[in-house]
Amino acid sequence: MKNEISFECRECGARLLKWMGRCPHCGQWNSVEEKLKSAFAKEKSAGHHGKICSVPISHISHDQSPRLSTGMSELDRVLGGGMVRKSMVLVGGDPGVGKSTLLMQALGGMSSRGEVVLYVTGEESLEQIKIRADRLGVMSESFLVVANNELEPILDLISNSGASVVALDSAQSVASHSVESYAGSVSQVRHVAAASIEVIKKSQSACFLVGHVTKDGALAGPKVLEHMVDTVLYFEGDRGYSYRVLRAVKNRFGSVSEIGVFEMTETGLSEVLNPSEFFLSERPQGESGSVVTALVEGSRPILAEIQALVCGPVPGSGRRTCLGTDPQRLSLIVAVIEKKLGLMLNDHDIFVNAVGGIRALEPAVDLGIVASIISSFSEKTIPFPSMIFGEVGLSGEVRPVMKCSERINEAIRLGYKRIIGPGKNLDAHRFTKQVKPLPVNHIRELTPILFD
Ligand SMILES: Nc1ncnc2c1ncn2[C@@H]1O[C@H](COP(=O)(O)OP(=O)(O)O)[C@@H](O)[C@H]1O
Ligand SMILES: [Mg+2]
Repeated sequence: MKNEISFECRECGARLLKWMGRCPHCGQWNSVEEKLKSAFAKEKSAGHHGKICSVPISHISHDQSPRLSTGMSELDRVLGGGMVRKSMVLVGGDPGVGKSTLLMQALGGMSSRGEVVLYVTGEESLEQIKIRADRLGVMSESFLVVANNELEPILDLISNSGASVVALDSAQSVASHSVESYAGSVSQVRHVAAASIEVIKKSQSACFLVGHVTKDGALAGPKVLEHMVDTVLYFEGDRGYSYRVLRAVKNRFGSVSEIGVFEMTETGLSEVLNPSEFFLSERPQGESGSVVTALVEGSRPILAEIQALVCGPVPGSGRRTCLGTDPQRLSLIVAVIEKKLGLMLNDHDIFVNAVGGIRALEPAVDLGIVASIISSFSEKTIPFPSMIFGEVGLSGEVRPVMKCSERINEAIRLGYKRIIGPGKNLDAHRFTKQVKPLPVNHIRELTPILFD
C-alpha cells in the first residue's frame, strides 16, 4: 500500500483529504492532523492478528446466574432484569441530573448484599465521594473507591479487583496517554470506551460507564459511544422538578421501551413505584383546562395531567406553545377543532402543558388535549373524575390506540369512574358497573358529554 497522506480531526475524528485550519465537521480550530493512510489501516486491523476458530452454539456454556440484581427494581427493569456480566452499560444524561447518585446507590445496594463493587471517579475527590456516600447511606466494606483519571492504571485495577460491578464516572474525565488529545475529546472518549469494553469482556465484571450529554448536540458525549456499548440508558429530568426518568434507548439484553421513574430527594433517589399517583398528586380541583389522560411508557401506563390555557382575543394570530407535548400535533388539533367544532381559536393564544415535566408525545393524548382546550376556552370545569384518551384524525374522527386495556385499568385503579375514549377501544373492554365508559367516535361527540 502506498503511504498516502490523509488528515484526521483530533476532536471529532472526521477524515479529510486536505489540511484545514478549522475542521468543517465540528468547527474546532487547529485540530486537523496529518496521518498516513497506512496508520489508519494499522489502527483498523489492530487486535485482529492470529488464528480464530468457530464453535457450535450448543457448546457455549454460560454462567448460571448471568444477571446481577442492583436491588433497585426500577433500574433492574430498565436493564431487562438486572446487570449482565461482562456487559457495558452507558448511562448518559445532563450534568447534575443524578447519574453519580444513581450509580452510587445501585453499587451501594449490591455491596450491602456482599458483592465487591468498584467505583472509579475521574471527576471528584475521595472526600467528595464520601460526602455523597454519607448522604446516601452507603458504607460497606466491599464498596471500593478510587479517584484517578489515567486510563491505563484504572484498567489494570478493574481487571485485578475481582469486582462484580464497576462504575466508571465518567468517560469524559478519564484519558489515555496513547491518545494525543485532552480528556473529553471525541478520540479520547472513544478510546476510553473501547479499551474499557475490551477489559470488561475479558473479566467477570459488569460495568456502568457515565457519559455527559452536552447542550450542543451531545458532541463528545454518549452519542459517540452508543454503537460500542451493550446498553444505553438515558437519565432525564428537568432541574425544576424532582422526578427523574431512566430510559433504555439501546439494550442488547432487554426491551428498549422500559422506563424507571425516580424522585430526587435529599437522601438520594427514591423509586416511584406508582408514577400515576405521583404525577397527579398536585392536581388542582375545579379548574377549567385540566384533563387527565393515560400515557404508556414501555409496558407501563402512566396517568398524567394535561393543562390548556386559551387566552384571547389577542391582536393578530395567536401563539401556540407546548411544554411536554408535540407542537405539530397541537397545530393539527387546533385546526381540527376550528374546522369541525367551529370554535374560533385563530386570535387566541393557546398554551398546553403536560404537568410535572412528563413527555406526553403519543398520539393517544390528542383527545385529552382537545378536551383541555374546549374546557379552557369555554371556562367550564370537567365535573367528575374522567380519564380521556384517543388519537384524533384530520377529519375529527377519534381513532383507537394501542394498549388501551392498560390505560383503562390504570385509570380504574386510581378511582376514575368516567372513561372517555375511542368507541372501538371501549367496546373491546369489559367494564364493571361502577365505571361509566363514554365512547367517542368523532370530536363532535365529545362536547355534549364532557361537562355532563
Ligand atoms: N444535599 C442535597 N440535597 C438534595 N439533593 C441534592 C443534594 N446534593 C445533591 N443533590 C441532587 O443531586 C444532583 C447531583 O447529582 P449527581 O449524581 O452529582 O449528578 P451527575 O453525576 O449526573 O452530574 C443535584 O442536581 C441535586 O438535584
Ligand atoms: Mg457525576
